[in-house]
Amino acid sequence: MCGIIGFVGKEQAAPILLDGLRRLEYRGYDSAGIAVCGEDGLRVKKARGRLQVLSDLTHAGADLPGVLGIGHTRWATHGEPNDVNAHPHVSQSGKIAVVHNGIIENYAELKGQLIAKGYTFRSETDTEVVAQLLDYYYADCQDFFEAMTRVLNAVEGAYALGIVCADYPDRMIAARKDAPLLLGYSENGSFIASDVTALIRHTRDIAYMDDGEMAVLSAGGIRVYDRLMRPVEKEHHHIDWDVDAAEKGGYDHFMLKEILEQPEAIRKATAARIQEGRVVLSDLAMTEEEIRSIGKIYIIACGSSYHVGMVGKYNLERMLRRTVEVCLASEFRYSDPIVGEGDLVIVISQSGETLDTMAALREAKKRGARILSIVNVVGSSIARESDDVLYTWAGPEIAVATTKAYSTQMAVLNLVGLYFGDIMGTVSYETYTAMVRDMQQLPEKMEKVLKDTEAIHALAKECADKEDVFFIGRNLDYALSLEGSLKLKEISYIHSEAYASGELKHGTISLIEDGTLVIALSTYEPLFDKAMSNVVEVQARGAKVLALTTEKHAADLAQRVPMVLSVPEVQQMLLPQLGVLPLQLLAYYIALERGCDIDKPRNLAKSVTVE
Ligand code: F6R
Repeated sequence: MCGIIGFVGKEQAAPILLDGLRRLEYRGYDSAGIAVCGEDGLRVKKARGRLQVLSDLTHAGADLPGVLGIGHTRWATHGEPNDVNAHPHVSQSGKIAVVHNGIIENYAELKGQLIAKGYTFRSETDTEVVAQLLDYYYADCQDFFEAMTRVLNAVEGAYALGIVCADYPDRMIAARKDAPLLLGYSENGSFIASDVTALIRHTRDIAYMDDGEMAVLSAGGIRVYDRLMRPVEKEHHHIDWDVDAAEKGGYDHFMLKEILEQPEAIRKATAARIQEGRVVLSDLAMTEEEIRSIGKIYIIACGSSYHVGMVGKYNLERMLRRTVEVCLASEFRYSDPIVGEGDLVIVISQSGETLDTMAALREAKKRGARILSIVNVVGSSIARESDDVLYTWAGPEIAVATTKAYSTQMAVLNLVGLYFGDIMGTVSYETYTAMVRDMQQLPEKMEKVLKDTEAIHALAKECADKEDVFFIGRNLDYALSLEGSLKLKEISYIHSEAYASGELKHGTISLIEDGTLVIALSTYEPLFDKAMSNVVEVQARGAKVLALTTEKHAADLAQRVPMVLSVPEVQQMLLPQLGVLPLQLLAYYIALERGCDIDKPRNLAKSVTVE
């Protein structure tokens, strides 16, 4: 996730900016930059790679005199990670510099309009449009603050913005909508930051900006305005977190932070791709003709990304009426696969660097298949070698056990299903509209599920002493059970298996004895009664059952089993998007109860670049 720091005050800005960016490093980034306004105007330094490169380039900031500046660590979303795409972005006149977190959804349209007016763009980013548009309005009205309000009216999407202008060497502007930004107050000056961590060494007196607010910062203080430019009195907060807690946003673990970030991550992954009720995948190069002529579809991945593929198989087959085969990358690559021209291979990877997935991609490509990858890390090897890439825009995932990457991969795969299904004419109008409507409502429904962490923690306490756990389910619940089981085993070290419920009686049921914990997934409405028969079957052999179902069945299930979790109703293909949340939390709290090293489970690495 990108990081922002800004300072205006009584000290040289550049060293403060570099220090702030260093404290944001834990969030992950691929490039960094600072802009400082001094007596000789605006000076900008940017560099791909580690912050040390930027620090060396500026002699730890000494080369950039001036008491006003903004800094940014970038995690690429639009455009490759390189020096040009790094922030700050400078306007054509050279006067205005902008740092930005979020996504400007209508940037392509605004960029087109500015190009028509003679503006030249240097980067591939959505952010540069803010700098150029501000430049344009400022030249037009000669009033920087008026120009700024015009920009905020014109841009759509999410933003936390820090802006400086060479004509105002003692002022900084900040604005926020749907992306965090806070203000810091100190005797030495005023700050903006995307994250408390960046400020903690300088001040613990902060205020959170709200959506639609704009702030004007100077050495003497901060004035905040609402959408209608009415002054706003901000409530101040005192931060008493230590630096370690601040990095995790006050949470005990990155995993919990990332679980709770999922509604926002889904919003980012989907909002710009749904326009006026239609799925628009403008980042796909495939033509409609190519999409219509797709033969067989393979989904290739490892671990949790493979589990997304399992959900994808059910959903894509339903929406596209094409055979979808899901393959473990490590098996596919050595299987002499029957794949070739006309086939589409969808490769899923958070890191974009998993060696087996990369090798499987190359194998499929060599045989003539078209490669579409769904990747989180922009510019990663898998993204670079694919014919098409859809980024998940989940931001950096730091906990080893994936959560928000899994959810955003699933959302993007569902968007692919809808987009292709529409073009192929295989998805009904009713399904399409219901899916689009419910995908837009997903973040709120996810927030609702994530609100009740304490109830899940209480259940986790009851389950934490188990040594064997079975997850069972049918259809999408089976696909979800694979992920629920993996989450539990990898962070809590409890032995766990996931079974298609119908398979139980073909062997596994012999393992069920008094007190065995069975997590019965029963969200999938068409097979709810079948799921209940399996519950009865395992209870008859002494199993202690925890059922995950939809709100509609929760009260009834509470009469039948000792532990119940529920999620709101949603279009059935989206049930795993909600169902995974309580399973992630359950695994998290069980691991917490067992005192495990949650963010760094033993023997595991975040990116598996070996075979
Ligand atoms: C589990 C987990 C792993 C990854 C797998 C693939 O929580 O994170 O199973 O899903 O190693 O990694 P990527 O998606 O980076 O290819």
